[in-house]
Amino acid sequence: MAPDPRLKAKTRPVEPKDRETVRDLVPRMLATMYAAPGIGLAAPQVALDLRFAVIDLQPDEKPAPITLINPRVEQRSLEEATREEGCLSLPGHYADVTRPEKVVVSYEDLEGKRQMIEAEGLLATCLQHEIDHLDGILFVDHLSALKRNMILRKMVKEKRLRKIG
Ligand code: NI
Repeated sequence: MAPDPRLKAKTRPVEPKDRETVRDLVPRMLATMYAAPGIGLAAPQVALDLRFAVIDLQPDEKPAPITLINPRVEQRSLEEATREEGCLSLPGHYADVTRPEKVVVSYEDLEGKRQMIEAEGLLATCLQHEIDHLDGILFVDHLSALKRNMILRKMVKEKRLRKIG
């Protein structure tokens, strides 16, 4: 959880030799994400220094997980959209974040095949939020310093309380 410095570090690319590890980790990450509940979870959030994340928007209320290995934003629209975001690493905190409305993201799947997603709406937000995590960026980093510090100060205070309680 923030302010854990591991959330601010850039991850290293998943190489072929890491693929087995990632395959083993994905079910646990999905379980953590569904239990939260959340729609995305990136490796740094579970203290892993690898460039991958899982997402599931559960369209039609059915599980439809996607594992994004070495994802990259290939294209961003000039139009922006503002959406309220939260994060499993900043529990209980929400804020409006403005990002490109549409993105094209490329990634490798669990078999190592390069895939492309064209996304808009919630999926576009979720993809950008998770890819940010892999670069050590939290949604609060998109806010004004004033708003960001307000949330981070509360996180530090809550952490102290957790230690006491
Ligand atoms: Ni997050």
